[in-house]
Amino acid sequence: MLLLSPSPISLLCALLLCLPLAIIFTITSPITTTATGPCITLTGGATPFQNTLIPTSLKNPLLAAIKSASKETETQQTINYNITATAPPPAAAEIDYDDEDDNSLFRLAARVGSNPTGPRKLAFLFLTTTPLPFAPIWEIYFNKTPKTLYNIYIHADPNSPYDPPFSGVFRNRVIPESKPTRRHTPNLISAARRLLSHALLHDPSNSKFALLSPSCIPLHSFKFTYRTLIRSRKSFIEILKNETGAWERWAARGEEAMLPELPFEDFRIGSQFFVLTRKHARMVAGDRRVWAKFKMPCLEEDTCYPEEQYFPTLLNMKDPRGCVHATLTHVDWTGRDDGHPRTYNASEVGPGLIVGFRRDRPRYGDEEDDDVTMMLMNGSDSSVRRRRHPFLFARKFTPDSVGPLLSIASDVIFKD
Ligand SMILES: *[C@@H]1O[C@H](CO)[C@@H](O)[C@H](O)[C@H]1NC(C)=O
Ligand SMILES: *[C@@H]1O[C@H](CO)[C@@H](O)[C@H](O)[C@H]1NC(C)=O
Ligand SMILES: *[C@@H]1O[C@H](CO)[C@@H](O)[C@H](O)[C@H]1NC(C)=O
Ligand SMILES: *[C@@H]1O[C@H](CO)[C@@H](O)[C@H](O)[C@H]1NC(C)=O
Repeated sequence: MLLLSPSPISLLCALLLCLPLAIIFTITSPITTTATGPCITLTGGATPFQNTLIPTSLKNPLLAAIKSASKETETQQTINYNITATAPPPAAAEIDYDDEDDNSLFRLAARVGSNPTGPRKLAFLFLTTTPLPFAPIWEIYFNKTPKTLYNIYIHADPNSPYDPPFSGVFRNRVIPESKPTRRHTPNLISAARRLLSHALLHDPSNSKFALLSPSCIPLHSFKFTYRTLIRSRKSFIEILKNETGAWERWAARGEEAMLPELPFEDFRIGSQFFVLTRKHARMVAGDRRVWAKFKMPCLEEDTCYPEEQYFPTLLNMKDPRGCVHATLTHVDWTGRDDGHPRTYNASEVGPGLIVGFRRDRPRYGDEEDDDVTMMLMNGSDSSVRRRRHPFLFARKFTPDSVGPLLSIASDVIFKD
């Protein structure tokens, strides 16, 4: 639950020409598969609206946002934060989504340059409250990748213990701005904005920003992922209009609460796991208007997934054509109505599962790029292929899946 757009061919070529020599990779072509595979009704990312009634005892309208006691400076270049110790228990619940530290961080981040400088890097943003069970897979992913092509950042709720501590490529990558997070509250939005802002300020070469959860795994090699993301000028973010239950989610803070700035027509839903361009990351850091609406607490938990609404709504209002309206993080909601997607366990993991994920096609929002829609309507093969962006990540897996995943890592997962 916690946690990612190619353009016309001519642009691709132009962009490829601009890439530094170091990152000219050989081009294999796993995108061209045309098999549709079994029909999965909901491979998008957003939580499907729950029809089930949650027992009143589980509802907690008073949201326990906790103002962090620790004040950290905004733009530390070196990340050195010992988070392995168990932090003190949460202080008294206090709703304060307008944290001054956050606001000054966001203000600074909104002023950085929109265009990345130097060799472009991918920023991997991990949003977690637990150790990273798939760290060994990510180690292989980043192994042999030049450090000049990526950065890793972790937002780790300081109230949670991290045992084992973050190590290897994840060592000292926790951002000092990390604060307590809680599902069904706007502070998951704040956590993602802190990650984006920290990464914007930390390295002007960060070009694409991928939000990931601890239960995410890569579905391709770094090389493939880098090529796919860097050659696109767009963000990849699921943007869905008027999904089942959208109205209830829009009205979750009260029927008039979003008005007048955010009428229902402007409300969008999508997976939290996006890949944003630098321009869009900056846009998110600088937003105050849409945030002013989403920071209001929900009245009911079962309609409250603000992190799945804020980003698609904001980007759709500001730059819909700068986005591919789909997430590249595979997830399976088929038959789920408990707010949690299917979680694969160790016995289910095998080459077939990974190959199946790669074969699936992202679910695209309705309003994507008119040109593409036009070509689709004309039934052109090439356009259909263009709308098959490859999934780059997948979730969710039980922690004990790490063994079976490691055993197929080099032969399946990282073989493109
Ligand atoms: C982190 O804090 C714990 C508990 O205070 C301590 O035992 C450990 O040595 C510290 N680790 C680092 C790397 O400073
Ligand atoms: C949204 O969809 C519902 C049916 O799912 C429909 O009744 C309603 O009119 C739609 N609203 C808008 C604004 O399109
Ligand atoms: C793993 O998942 C499958 C399919 O959901 C299930 O049948 C099986 O019992 C699960 N195994 C374990 C060990 O939980
Ligand atoms: C699709 O067909 C329409 C109508 O024939 C035409 O106007 C349009 O240019 C075509 N679009 C593309 C992208 O080929």
